[in-house]
Amino acid sequence: MSEQSTPRVLSCMQPTGDVHLGNYLGALRNWVAGQDRYDAFHGIVDLHALTVIEEPGIIGPQTVELAAMLFAVGLDPERATVFVQSHVPEHNQLGWIMECTVSYGELSRMTQFKDKTAKRQNEFISGGLFTYPALQAADILLYDANEVPIGDDQRQHVEITRDAAIRFNHRFGDTFVVPDAVTPAAGARVMSLQDPTAKMSKSDDSGAGCVYLVDEPAAVLKKFKRAVTDSDTGADAVRFDRDTKPGVANLLEINAAITGRSPADVAEDYEQYGALKVDTGEAVVATLEPIRTRYLELLDDRGELARRLRVGADKAREVATATLDRAQRAIGMLPA
Ligand code: TYM
Repeated sequence: MSEQSTPRVLSCMQPTGDVHLGNYLGALRNWVAGQDRYDAFHGIVDLHALTVIEEPGIIGPQTVELAAMLFAVGLDPERATVFVQSHVPEHNQLGWIMECTVSYGELSRMTQFKDKTAKRQNEFISGGLFTYPALQAADILLYDANEVPIGDDQRQHVEITRDAAIRFNHRFGDTFVVPDAVTPAAGARVMSLQDPTAKMSKSDDSGAGCVYLVDEPAAVLKKFKRAVTDSDTGADAVRFDRDTKPGVANLLEINAAITGRSPADVAEDYEQYGALKVDTGEAVVATLEPIRTRYLELLDDRGELARRLRVGADKAREVATATLDRAQRAIGMLPA
């Protein structure tokens, strides 16, 4: 295994639509914090997005937009390696090896696969949607990542990656670093503002339950004001209980994630849902507004974005080729 001195983090995001508050609080904020302490690698995983894309001309623009957003939230191209997955072909190459390392049974147990196929009833379901976690394992293992900062919904994918790494190391000798998943204390599972029993998601049909990082401030405030809570009244209506009060718990958790407090502590400050909604909306706007401004500026300079992604791909390939080579040698494949 490689002996890098600074620990590595790797995490990726799909370019499948506008980035939302769940992505930000669950993952992106930790990516930005991590670049000071870790050797950080972050991929825009366009190959993963192909599992659901069926029209031409969409994936490229979405990839550039996500790149602009990753820099807008604060990833610094001097410190973090930001790259596009398809610019580093080693992902496909190790991806196949990982497909042969995970079992059909393991892939069948992935809740994301079950959820996504349930939503696509009567639609085309690609084989890639099923084998997706093997490619994700390759994404992580290629960079000898020690930690993978993610939201809650990706934990199972890091688990299967760990199992694949351990199995490979057992079969072919010590080759891969076994990574740990890291989720934030608050914000690991941001729920829809309209249906607080479902996670906030890009595929939210109306958009009312999902706060996008590019939303105008007025739209953000409106979404929070209309957030679904419950009909409890009385002095202790505002309390943190995910099971019986999911809407209120979600608002408290978002507020806590933004202000750096605990949800129970935030609850102490409120007796009325209205005030909690307004304050949380305003706190979110204060965080998102500078990001939105930077995003629009960055999008204006496509040449600079392309340059940054080229530099990122070069740095990523340097690490990825060495790891792929190590894996192929461990298996004993005939060198080309
Ligand atoms: P993706 O693109 O769906 O989401 C990117 C990140 O955002 C987190 N997230 C959330 N966190 C909190 N609350 C939510 N409602 C919420 N929705 C999304 C996700 O947990 C994720 O961290 N399979 C991955 C992409 C991927 C990847 C990887 C991640 C491919 N290769 C290697 C880590 C390492 C995905 O679809 O994430």
